Amino acid sequence: MLNISHLNATQSDTYQHLDTPFLCVNKQTFLKNLDHLRTRTEALGASLRPHFKTVRAAEALQYLLTDKSSPITVSTVKEAEALMDAGYTDVIYAVGISAAKLPRIKKLLNRGQNIRVLADTPEQAEQVNRFCEENHCSVPVLLEVDCDGHRGGVRPKDPKLIEIAQALHSGAADFKGVLAHAGESYHCLTTETLREAAANEVRAVLEAVTRLQAANIPCEIVSTGSTPTAHHYENLQGVTEVRAGVYGFFDLVMTGIGICDLNQIAATVVATVIGHNHEKGWVFVDAGWMALSGDRGTAKQPHDCGYGLVSDEAGQLLEGMQVSTVNQEHGIITMTNGRTLEPENFPVGSRLNILPNHACATAAMHSQYHVFDTQAETHEVWNRIQGW
Ligand SMILES: Cc1ncc(COP(=O)(O)O)c(C=O)c1O
Repeated sequence: MLNISHLNATQSDTYQHLDTPFLCVNKQTFLKNLDHLRTRTEALGASLRPHFKTVRAAEALQYLLTDKSSPITVSTVKEAEALMDAGYTDVIYAVGISAAKLPRIKKLLNRGQNIRVLADTPEQAEQVNRFCEENHCSVPVLLEVDCDGHRGGVRPKDPKLIEIAQALHSGAADFKGVLAHAGESYHCLTTETLREAAANEVRAVLEAVTRLQAANIPCEIVSTGSTPTAHHYENLQGVTEVRAGVYGFFDLVMTGIGICDLNQIAATVVATVIGHNHEKGWVFVDAGWMALSGDRGTAKQPHDCGYGLVSDEAGQLLEGMQVSTVNQEHGIITMTNGRTLEPENFPVGSRLNILPNHACATAAMHSQYHVFDTQAETHEVWNRIQGW
């Protein structure tokens, strides 16, 4: 059996009295995950710009960032606004900008936040320039570079790279540099392919920077990152910063890729057994997709974890057990290794922990997280910032 370093449930009255399902964060594990990547990134000479999209709770900022001027990434303007309210000022909004969001960006700039937006089309460059001219402001913009064909961005050799950057640089906007996200790295399964994805992400941004510099367009920010590549860079010369989000909580997808092991997963869903189907050998818990999310991120991995693996309250992985089906508020736990699940071993009212496939999706289903520190024996409640 694998030991998942979880809180010792029996030690905490608070834990026992919480109604289920709830998202439980093991604070010591979370802090170790944060510290590991920060140390690794800084040793390579770049700064870490955590992505707030996974945790999205103001209470977590004191752990994610060193101080109020530390760099952070967001995936919604709502997160940037919450950061401004909490006094954090160095932000990249890393989803392609739409014109309708620019007034909110301007408000943040006026309030003193150093927020930059992302673009990868000539239309976006034109819209930002026009907005800046009409509103007498200068919105800082990064150009997204496509390093692996995963999603958006401009290929480093694409003539649009210079076209978009030049439009922003010479227009009313403020061109700040380049950003790449190696989304294809989530499909890598070996150290060699992960290292190659990491090196390729760096190569792509550096090629873009070289071409931009040759066109007399300076790049102040050179930003790369995803959790898989962030853990596999070997050389970050020329890169100013690394972004990663899921590395704080980790999850089964990251375990499947080989970025972490099960006992580094810091967030689990605590559920109560609410019934059995003895004929079928099923155990029902009160955590369906509303608590776990419907994410099936491990489906294409060699080890498909269903909707999550299962551990007992003490954190022992129950080998072979997984949440195989989810309804809105029901999770159905079955055995997947050919053995028989004995429902009587999981009495009604007992509790189980579900390890999530994708921590970003599972955390998004919870308005609050319960954070337990196994060393200090403290309990914190983190409130998730909802909406866009
Ligand atoms: C632009 C960008 N940067 C960084 C990240 C962080 O990656 P991860 O979730 O692997 O930590 C993401 C994730 O979606 C992203 O879209």
